[in-house]
Amino acid sequence: MKSFSLLLLVVSPLFIAVNASPNIRDAPTTTVDIQDGQTGTLMVLPPRQTDTGTKNVPDANHPFIAPGPNDMRGPCPAMNTLANHGYISRNGITSFEEIINGAGEAFNIDRDMAAGMAALNILTRGNPFVNKISIGLVSPLVPPLPGQIDGPETQGIAKHGRVEGDGSMTRSDVHIGDNRNFNQTLWDEGLEVLAKFGDDGPDGPATVFNLQAGIELVNQTLVSDQVLDPEVDRFSFWSKYFLNTDSNGIDTDSVASVFANGTTKLATKRIITTFFMNQTFPENWFRPQAPVLGSNSPIAGEVAAALSDWVPGHNDENGVFVADPRPPAPFNSTSGCANYWDVLSNAVPAALANVTGIFKQNVDLLTGILFNASGCAEPIAPAGPTNV
Ligand SMILES: *[C@@H]1O[C@H](CO)[C@@H](O)[C@H](O)[C@H]1NC(C)=O
Ligand SMILES: *[C@@H]1O[C@H](CO)[C@@H](O)[C@H](O)[C@H]1NC(C)=O
Ligand SMILES: *[C@@H]1O[C@H](CO)[C@@H](O)[C@H](O)[C@H]1NC(C)=O
Ligand SMILES: *[C@@H]1O[C@H](CO)[C@@H](O)[C@H](O)[C@H]1NC(C)=O
Ligand SMILES: *[C@@H]1O[C@H](CO)[C@@H](O)[C@H](O)[C@H]1NC(C)=O
Ligand SMILES: *[C@@H]1O[C@H](CO)[C@@H](O)[C@H](O)[C@H]1NC(C)=O
Ligand SMILES: *[C@@H]1O[C@H](CO)[C@@H](O)[C@H](O)[C@H]1NC(C)=O
Repeated sequence: MKSFSLLLLVVSPLFIAVNASPNIRDAPTTTVDIQDGQTGTLMVLPPRQTDTGTKNVPDANHPFIAPGPNDMRGPCPAMNTLANHGYISRNGITSFEEIINGAGEAFNIDRDMAAGMAALNILTRGNPFVNKISIGLVSPLVPPLPGQIDGPETQGIAKHGRVEGDGSMTRSDVHIGDNRNFNQTLWDEGLEVLAKFGDDGPDGPATVFNLQAGIELVNQTLVSDQVLDPEVDRFSFWSKYFLNTDSNGIDTDSVASVFANGTTKLATKRIITTFFMNQTFPENWFRPQAPVLGSNSPIAGEVAAALSDWVPGHNDENGVFVADPRPPAPFNSTSGCANYWDVLSNAVPAALANVTGIFKQNVDLLTGILFNASGCAEPIAPAGPTNV
């Protein structure tokens, strides 16, 4: 994941237009659905949380416990933090409902935004029939899709491509090094930028993330990525048409709107480093004061505007940058719709267009969530490549 990020938060701007419509659907006609030896689990959109203010997180029921050797962890610090504290399963195998409830309780992420994030991840890297996804690598607890229609294994979110992309501020590009674990060298480079552009704060001079530091950080990441990674696939996933700056813009957004201390709204060096490096909540940390909608911080847009020269694309075999084709009309009408087009056309495997029973009901729910958030006039069937 371009992850300075949160898997979670990465999706935010996609969901700006979501209407809080209740999820109404027909009662399932079958209660048990067995396909290829697996038992389907019907997904149900949870209700919004009723407690929506700031509070000290974690609570006493969610202490930090370091992951064991079989527990999955991945490129997304927020997901890892949720698992390290039991807001989602500590083994790193989670579900649609668990992500929504955990992200709501711990980070005050709005239900619909969290649902969009969960939908994107499960459609691309999970098993939507059994309602399971690994936040890290392949797990024996997440079977291949029934009939192995997307290959012999269900990859977790650490698998490069579809959602995990190049250009993270804390994880290396997959072609360079370890794309899953925190990289101190990269983060030190980021902190040098903070030391030049950050605001003064409780931890000292130039220790608070602000818009300028965010812009410079993203720019630095993009510049060095283009130089260092001959195979760079810049903006190689769904968010590329939302922001020209890819999810890095959203990364900075999530720093400001999600990781910042809810009471002071300050994203300090200590707080952000604690999330990215230690994947735990900083001591005496407060979650945001109001549900995070993805639309309540202008920062991502401002970062994107400042870095609009950077366009989606990849380096060819000669290391020469090739821009991606733009989405066709009418999907180029808005960035949200273009983004939806990109996800359904390139990241969600086409095999999911042709499933049945509970499998189909779940896929329809998840693609419906993405469509409702897109602002597009017409839905698109999943059409991405298989087994990649
Ligand atoms: C999408 O929006 C429509 C219209 O508001 C609503 O009926 C439907 O339940 C929504 N679908 C999902 C999956 O949220
Ligand atoms: C960490 O990042 C540095 C700088 O890009 C790189 O040289 C190194 O190989 C990375 N380490 C790992 C383990 O990926
Ligand atoms: C990004 O970095 C490059 C190389 O240092 C520089 O030329 C460019 O002006 C920077 N862009 C922004 C928006 O800071
Ligand atoms: C991260 O954890 C290490 C080991 O427990 C600790 O020494 C360090 O202070 C922590 N850093 C932050 C920023 O939380
Ligand atoms: C968050 O702000 C409160 C003051 O409202 C402060 O007591 C607390 O230490 C801060 N937490 C962090 C992690 O900075
Ligand atoms: C969408 O694409 C069509 C066809 O290439 C083009 O004429 C139109 O100007 C584009 N619209 C936007 C908003 O970019
Ligand atoms: C859809 O599934 C049916 C039944 O398994 C199969 O006959 C058909 O070829 C599939 N179509 C596509 C496009 O995969």
